[in-house]
Amino acid sequence: MIWSQLCRRWPLQFLYFGLLLFSVAMLKYVFQRSDQVELQNKENNLRSSYNKTQFFTIMQFPSRDEINCSKIIKGDQQEVKRALLHQSNAKNKRLPANEMDYLKFTKDCNLYKKIRRFISIPLSKEEENFPIAYSMVIHEQIEMFERLLRAIYNPQNIYCVHVDEKSPESYKEAVRAIISCFENVFLASKLEKVVYTSWFRLKADLNCMEDLLKSNVPWRYLLNTCGTDLPIKTNAEIVRALKVLNGKNSLESKKPPKHKKVRWWFSYKTDTTIRRTFIMKGPPPISSPVFTGSAYFVVTREFVTYVLENPDVQKLIEWIKDTLIPEEQLWATINRMPGVPGSSPYHDKYELSDMNAIARLMKWDGLGGNIDKGAAYPSCTGIFRRSICINGAGDLHWMLQQHHLFANKFDPTVDDYAIQCLEEYLRHKALNEKEP
Ligand SMILES: *[C@@H]1O[C@H](CO)[C@@H](O)[C@H](O)[C@H]1NC(C)=O
Ligand SMILES: *[C@@H]1O[C@H](CO)[C@@H](O)[C@H](O)[C@H]1NC(C)=O
Repeated sequence: MIWSQLCRRWPLQFLYFGLLLFSVAMLKYVFQRSDQVELQNKENNLRSSYNKTQFFTIMQFPSRDEINCSKIIKGDQQEVKRALLHQSNAKNKRLPANEMDYLKFTKDCNLYKKIRRFISIPLSKEEENFPIAYSMVIHEQIEMFERLLRAIYNPQNIYCVHVDEKSPESYKEAVRAIISCFENVFLASKLEKVVYTSWFRLKADLNCMEDLLKSNVPWRYLLNTCGTDLPIKTNAEIVRALKVLNGKNSLESKKPPKHKKVRWWFSYKTDTTIRRTFIMKGPPPISSPVFTGSAYFVVTREFVTYVLENPDVQKLIEWIKDTLIPEEQLWATINRMPGVPGSSPYHDKYELSDMNAIARLMKWDGLGGNIDKGAAYPSCTGIFRRSICINGAGDLHWMLQQHHLFANKFDPTVDDYAIQCLEEYLRHKALNEKEP
């Protein structure tokens, strides 16, 4: 039992036990999971004698009573409708955990990581031998950050978290509190004020790249995420997908359409917002063309080293700083420059769309509908924000058949079942996957 173990371990048993009870009560209140006390008892009994079968049972996410996620994942329309209805009922609304909650939860890191079921050991030798680096650029919704981190967390990987300098102090504090519980998760050494569509979004990733190269984790690939992303593959599947890339990068890179070229005609000025000036920009300082793509990438360690050290890339970065949405040009362009590790030639044959790259799956407004009649993907079952679908539970079935490693966007205030069911599915898969 907890009681006897605590007595043996700590002389301040009363204080600790009080703290423990308090934390358990808080977590139970917020996450409304009934099995946590039982889980913790089991965990305590397990500490001395590690039993894989028991460990895997404990790490499983509990199924919901009200909605059957395995039906949702299979695309059962009836169940999707039930989820929508259940969610639209005000009395079923769950308030996401807030900053104060996380300050409390993380007072006892071991307890926190156990109750929230963070994976504490590499699940296979293959994963252990293939560490991955993550750059996470976030600014709001603390619970969503924690759920994303939990979904991608593995002890052998390394995570750099860039919090918007403009975010409220309470948010930053909560992020620091969560991060402090993990040896392999750290805050970027330099924080930027991230103005949407400006250079500072790009700078945040560059800051993390520098920090990640300094770490002594021998990571092989770098993936970047924002606060509304979730993986749609397990860590083991991600490792295998990266191995298949065989040293290549994977990211969207296409010839720019006319309406995007205007992004680098004029110089843009950024303070609290971004504004176009009347100063015309010169041509890019590289001999290969400029391409457009996405802010999201899957790149090798060699690519990252090259980006930070190569003089031509440095010149390109200097040139691109005062353009509009530079992150959508920079990676797409570097990945088509001759001599860049893992890149592709700039010939037309190497055009890569977001659907064919593996970095990020998103549904753009206006492209959804009947695939058989020419649509790019099935319609969004959630809502659109900034022209991108915030996925609903009805989007999961199709999403999980795609080859992408991550999908965007998710928001618990729009559809929490989409997130819960994805979490449950991935965890179940991660624990039940056999090593190849
Ligand atoms: C581990 O636990 C399971 C379930 O409690 C049990 O069936 C199994 O025999 C245990 N294995 C070992 C090696 O103790
Ligand atoms: C959920 O639905 C599946 C069928 O898709 C069924 O096998 C399973 O028992 C259901 N789970 C629960 C908890 O009702």
